[in-house]
Amino acid sequence: MEALMRNTFLFLAKNRAANKAAQAYGMRLGASRFVAGDNIENAIQKVRDFNRRGIVATLDHLGEFVFSEEEARMAADECVAALDAIGAAGVQSHLSLKMTQLGLDISQDLCLDNMHRILDTAKKHGNFVRIDMEDYAHNEISIDIFKRLRAEYGETVGLVIQAYLYKSAQDIEDLNVFHPNLRLVKGAYKEPESVAFPKKEDVDANYIRIIERHLTLGNYAAVASHDEKIIEHVKRFTAEHQIPRQQFEFQMLYGIRSDLQDQLAAEGYTVRVYIPYGTDWYGYFMRRLAERPANVGFVLKSMLKG
Ligand code: FDA
Repeated sequence: MEALMRNTFLFLAKNRAANKAAQAYGMRLGASRFVAGDNIENAIQKVRDFNRRGIVATLDHLGEFVFSEEEARMAADECVAALDAIGAAGVQSHLSLKMTQLGLDISQDLCLDNMHRILDTAKKHGNFVRIDMEDYAHNEISIDIFKRLRAEYGETVGLVIQAYLYKSAQDIEDLNVFHPNLRLVKGAYKEPESVAFPKKEDVDANYIRIIERHLTLGNYAAVASHDEKIIEHVKRFTAEHQIPRQQFEFQMLYGIRSDLQDQLAAEGYTVRVYIPYGTDWYGYFMRRLAERPANVGFVLKSMLKG
């Protein structure tokens, strides 16, 4: 039953018509539990609240299904505006983005052009931009573009690697020449057995493997998970191997396990919360429901409340 619900939500996440219909309902359907608000002002206020609790942030202007050059350039404008707003407010926050939002499915040149504009702005502010990893169809191209941008912009840019893919352990080795700052995650998309571990225990084992390897190579790791077993393992492993706390951080999603975020921050670990905002929340929200079908309960309650 759980697998069926997961597949249904992941199917819906990719459905463009449902995306448009959902947007018409604004932030209803319970999405506000996972999305900080419609605009950058709402998002900056949330960052300020987290910073007061000793937690840093990464902002994400939501957007998927971008098929026109104009939309892609507007999405890049939003990213530039977010970096400027973070700089002006003096809050502690990075930026995360998806390259399909910047025109990756239209042309690589368009996407690169937009990335240059965003990274120039980040560099000007001394900030950092993380490229989220999307579905498998965009994996290799994302890695190629990252390598190119990393050579141009150095530590201003980072990438995400997903433990559910068989190829990721090798990607960790190949990317090591750059000593990159990587966010390591389990993976949130629906992928076939031909490319991704179908069983959760295999994903978890590979996750531990790539975290340990990336850290042992001396590289910076953002361990992005709400899984307490994984988090405890990382705490133990880094202590046993004298890996300094400046070499890693824990990341979690806005609206999930804020108790654990506060606890880790109180223990002195760097904790970063991923804060999505904007009106195009549908795909992001469906993936959060797929991760934990129990979240549907929250949705039904908020729908009944109107
Ligand atoms: P797991 O799914 O095993 O969950 C462990 C526990 O966490 C659950 O038992 C539950 O208590 C809690 N939990 C997890 N998900 C929840 C939810 N939706 N609602 C409520 N509780 C939940 N993926 C990707 O493919 N590309 C990317 O770029 C990113 N980026 C990213 C950034 C950040 C900061 C995070 C935290 C995650 C991502 N992800 C991602 C998503 C990631 O791949 C993965 O789908 C989720 O983090 C869920 O996996 P966990 O590691 O939390 O473990």
